[in-house]
Amino acid sequence: MLAAAAGWLAARGVAQDEARLDAELLLARVLEVRRLDLYLDHDRPLDEAERGRFRALMRRRGEGREPVAYLLGERGFYGLTLAVGPGVLVPRPETEHLVEVGLETLRAAGARPTFVDVGTGSGCVALALLREHAPARGLGVDRSAEALAFAARNARDLGLAGRLTLLRGDLLTGLADASLDLVVSNPPYVTPDERGLLAPEVARWEPPGALFDAPGLPLTAALARQARAALRPGGTLAVETGQGKADLVRGLLEREGFGEVRAVNDLAGVERVVVGRSP
Ligand SMILES: C[S@@+](CC[C@H](N)C(=O)[O-])C[C@H]1O[C@@H](n2cnc3c(N)ncnc32)[C@H](O)[C@@H]1O
Repeated sequence: MLAAAAGWLAARGVAQDEARLDAELLLARVLEVRRLDLYLDHDRPLDEAERGRFRALMRRRGEGREPVAYLLGERGFYGLTLAVGPGVLVPRPETEHLVEVGLETLRAAGARPTFVDVGTGSGCVALALLREHAPARGLGVDRSAEALAFAARNARDLGLAGRLTLLRGDLLTGLADASLDLVVSNPPYVTPDERGLLAPEVARWEPPGALFDAPGLPLTAALARQARAALRPGGTLAVETGQGKADLVRGLLEREGFGEVRAVNDLAGVERVVVGRSP
């Protein structure tokens, strides 16, 4: 059943290495078992209702190219399980590097460090920081009410709502009091000329407001300008960006007076997170 399903997904364009995993995740969901149980119970027959439910999910995955995270309603990130669905970006593994940089900063800061996660989406970055560093307090900002609803649910489910304030807003507008230890952000950074490179799962399903910025990345530029005013002297800005864009982003931070500007590579060797220190 799994082999046939994986082949069927791959024939519809789902990446070969994802097709088998997706089939397993969806079958495990239909049967309400762990993925491992599919192997332990490999000779268990499926009844007609189970086959029907599996076929329906497979059609949505293969023909609609709906992201598997939306079909499951959840995605793992930095050891957390986060609720996601249409209206919010699916957390990506490369964004875990943003968490690592943020954690270094929070651990080196004072007794009760504070941070803002700009464009918090599902809340993945802010919630991972709070889970890993108990003394920290955070603020998650997003302009999307749908995204904030997911972030609020995730904060509640993880028992972290008492340490995360969520705010609907535009970047750091109104938060310029030079007191923050850390600003982290995974802002939209796909430019319109790159639209054709996006997988159907992304282009058809994920919110455009979470993906696209104009050439030159004016959102990242505005973020750097505002972060300069919101951070305490010596505070850190860490911002994720796309392949081939780290030089541009380094320049945006340096123009605002950030020092010690450096880039952190992801596991694919792409300069993924640009980090700078406020003067
Ligand atoms: C690339 S997604 C990142 C979501 C989440 N932080 C993550 O890493 O998965 C960018 C997020 O920024 C939000 N956003 C876009 N423009 C914004 C703005 N001007 N002010 C605040 N949030 C914004 C989007 O709604 C979206 O949730």
